[in-house]
This record gives sequence, structure tokens and C-alpha cells, in this order.
Amino acid sequence: MKIVLLGYMGCGKSVIGAFLAKKLQVPFYDLDHEIEKSTQISITELFQSKGELYFRKKENEILKVFVEKQEDFVLSLGGGTPCYYNNHELLQHEGVFSIYLKASVDTLVSRLINEKDQRPLLHNQDEVSLKDFINKHLFDRNFYYHQATKVVVVDNKSVEQLVSEIE
Ligand code: S3P
Repeated sequence: MKIVLLGYMGCGKSVIGAFLAKKLQVPFYDLDHEIEKSTQISITELFQSKGELYFRKKENEILKVFVEKQEDFVLSLGGGTPCYYNNHELLQHEGVFSIYLKASVDTLVSRLINEKDQRPLLHNQDEVSLKDFINKHLFDRNFYYHQATKVVVVDNKSVEQLVSEIE
């Protein structure tokens, strides 16, 4: 089975994905990392030098390759992936089981406030504006996130708890 984890920045997609893949004994992939491998530059540099549209195009191209793969794997998407191009349709591909890791705005703010410099979409925000920004962003993205096969609430749960729940 192709398990795809989606959700807002800071919801834990990469950490949970890596644990889950290990438990299921299948390879783990992170879409941002795959984009960095293919373009040979970091996501931050990619946003700066080529712009977001270029990044979104790459995201779409690489996601398409993944959903068509024959092997089993766990794949963590970027926070915006389901919301661009036909990505939400690609996630309906046969054999794909998508999971929305749903975090509250407060959880996301507390995790992202110290990590926003690594995220090109957040680095201009202070704590107050970050909360507003996330609220608005989630409003725009919820429609896509909720098309996942399953929704798992992540607030106040350990990685081990979440992995067992998903299993
Ligand atoms: C993005 C999320 C990031 C990365 C890029 C854009 C988004 O991934 O793909 O900075 O649009 O939410 P993470 O969700 O892994 O931080």
C-alpha cells in the first residue's frame, strides 16, 4: 500500500512518516527532500531563486511519479501539496491511502514559532501574525486536506501513539 501523509506545516508528517515506515518495513520518502534531490537546491533557495510557482510544478511532477509507483512506501507531502494542480486527484489513485494529520492552530503555532525561518512561507511572521496566517491558510486548505482517506488528530499524542493509531 502507498501511504501518503498530509497536513499543515508542523503537524509532524516527516517524523511520523519515518516511524511508520520503519514499523511497516517499507521505504520512507519525503516529497520536499525528493524535490531537493531532483533540483539539487534547498526548498528555501528554490523559493528564492525560482519562485513558488516553479516549486509547485516540481511538487506536482514528483507526486505523479510516486502515485504511479508499484512498490509500497510511506510518503510525507509538503503542507501545500494537496492544494495545487491536480494533486488532490492524484491522491485518489488506486492503492493510495492518504492520511490527514490534523493539528489545532495552537499546536501549530507553538511548534512553528521556533521553526519559521526554515519555512519560506512563514519567515516574515511574528507570533501574533503567525496565528492569523495559519487560521486563514487552514481555511483555504481544509477543503483539500479533508479529501484524505482518513483524518487523524495529532494534538497531545506521542509519535508512538500516532503510529499505532495509523497502523
Ligand atoms: C509548504 C510546506 C513545506 C514546504 C514548502 C511549502 C506549504 O513543507 O513544502 O515550504 O505550502 O505549506 P512542510 O509541510 O514539510 O513544512
